Amino acid sequence: MTRRKYVVGNWKMNGLTAMLGEAKAIFAAAETHTSVDVALCPPFTLIGAMAAAAPGAAVGGQDCHASASGAFTGSVAARMLADAGARLVIVGHSERREGFGESDADVCAKAEAALAAGLSVILCVGEPRAVRESGGAIAYVLAQIAGSLPGEFDPARLAVAYEPIWAIGTGLVPTVADVADMHGAIRAKLNEQAGAGAASAMRLLYGGSVNGDNAAELLGAGDVDGALVGGASLTAAKFVPIVEAAASL
Ligand code: 13P
Repeated sequence: MTRRKYVVGNWKMNGLTAMLGEAKAIFAAAETHTSVDVALCPPFTLIGAMAAAAPGAAVGGQDCHASASGAFTGSVAARMLADAGARLVIVGHSERREGFGESDADVCAKAEAALAAGLSVILCVGEPRAVRESGGAIAYVLAQIAGSLPGEFDPARLAVAYEPIWAIGTGLVPTVADVADMHGAIRAKLNEQAGAGAASAMRLLYGGSVNGDNAAELLGAGDVDGALVGGASLTAAKFVPIVEAAASL
């Protein structure tokens, strides 16, 4: 099955309205690369404005609450994201798992809530440095998938992003062979857990220090269908070359 390339920017806690021009430039460039799906996930505060500034563009959230509404001060429900103009949401980012104590069960509940609200989901997994160094990275990531993948889902609306924690924002990247090994293992696990049809339709993204110079190599690795990009997604000058690299494959 042919899977369309998918390049997603995660702005994390960066971005004021002054940065909407970058988003517009990114989406305008993305339109010229019709073989690649491009999305940007700004902070909550910019979702509505970004969706309005770039009609038709895929704008997403970086997290959502698992409940539809209620007394959860400071949280945002999946259907609120959809109401603000979001089409997708990232769940289970390591900065949420580590910094906010989110468990696999929490991540699973968030993914289910997002899918029920009509959003697409990018479910993140990835190992810490010590686990990679001890040789346990694949087992660690497959256990995260076992615990956080929803039971039933539309595979076209659920992508998995492999983001080794030690590669995020550090300039360090795994070897292409290690990325291919991990993505192959994830695909095999999805096959076992969700069935062959779902596993072959789902997109697997690599994230962690992706930039215009390494994107073609990383995106060309076996079982890699796209990239989840942090720092290099904040400007068109840095992000568009990654989209171009995806389009060239
Ligand atoms: P960097 O691209 O800045 O390493 O961040 C990756 C990431 O965490 C995307 O979700």
